[in-house]
Amino acid sequence: MDVRKAVIPVAGLGTRFLPATKAIPKEMLTIVDRPTIQYIVEEVVASGIEQIIFVTSEGKSAIENHFDYNYELDHVLKEKNKTLLGKELDMISNLIDIVSVRQKKPLGLGHAIWTARHIVGAEPFMVCLGDDLVSSEVPCAWQMLELFREVGESIVAVQRVPPNQTFQYGIVEGIENDRERTHRVKRMVEKPAPGTTDSDLAIIGRYILMPDIFEILSGTTPGHGGEIQLTDALLALSMKRKMYAYEFEGTRFDAGDKFGYLQAIVAYALRHDELAEPFKEHLREVVKTL
Ligand code: G1P
Repeated sequence: MDVRKAVIPVAGLGTRFLPATKAIPKEMLTIVDRPTIQYIVEEVVASGIEQIIFVTSEGKSAIENHFDYNYELDHVLKEKNKTLLGKELDMISNLIDIVSVRQKKPLGLGHAIWTARHIVGAEPFMVCLGDDLVSSEVPCAWQMLELFREVGESIVAVQRVPPNQTFQYGIVEGIENDRERTHRVKRMVEKPAPGTTDSDLAIIGRYILMPDIFEILSGTTPGHGGEIQLTDALLALSMKRKMYAYEFEGTRFDAGDKFGYLQAIVAYALRHDELAEPFKEHLREVVKTL
């Protein structure tokens, strides 16, 4: 069965980015010329997904508005003959079919995904976390969908991280190499205490999940941090049926973290059609002053 839907949880409070995120969703923070969330939506669209399901919370309407049609703005731009800009805005609102569903309580990532169960239904689906930007030649979601067509089972995107950072991630353990960049998952643990795991394979925010995950999530009890963790449900799913960890090609940025966000801005500016050259020149000047 093809993967047609992507769930993008955007309900988080963005406390790592206060005060910037007091009144705007962290997903709306700008990277060069578009909000973080637009890069993720574009990745998903470029990979052939047909519908996006945002899992939102109070105060996140700016995200829905961003992908909606803005009549007033369109009208003003037309009057001012700024049709090119207008076309770009049109393009954003026509990108893809988007629906949203509210997560009423902040009970964790697992609970956020579970909230989308009725809209996803009984089919495999993709999950993309709004903080994780992946810059790559072939979109990360596309790479995973290609693998899914071969294996037909759940896949989590992973990358190797330094041992002193494993406590910040879901970690895949006891792996068995299966094919290029791909491992069979035996165990996984959410944010293991420092020094308690031998694995350096961290889960990054891209997943393809079999719909069985919903039933498992409905019985998943709070785990790390008192939250219903997706990783705990994935562990249960991996005991029921095959699961794969895929080392994607590309560079991942944690755009929900101040340093990761700055790194993303530099990287995306350096691949921007108009800004790349002048920005490179500017960076050279800056380096001289360091
Ligand atoms: C979530 C997941 C974690 C994963 C991480 C990737 O954690 O729970 O397993 O490694 O995303 O970004 P969060 O960063 O939301 O705490």
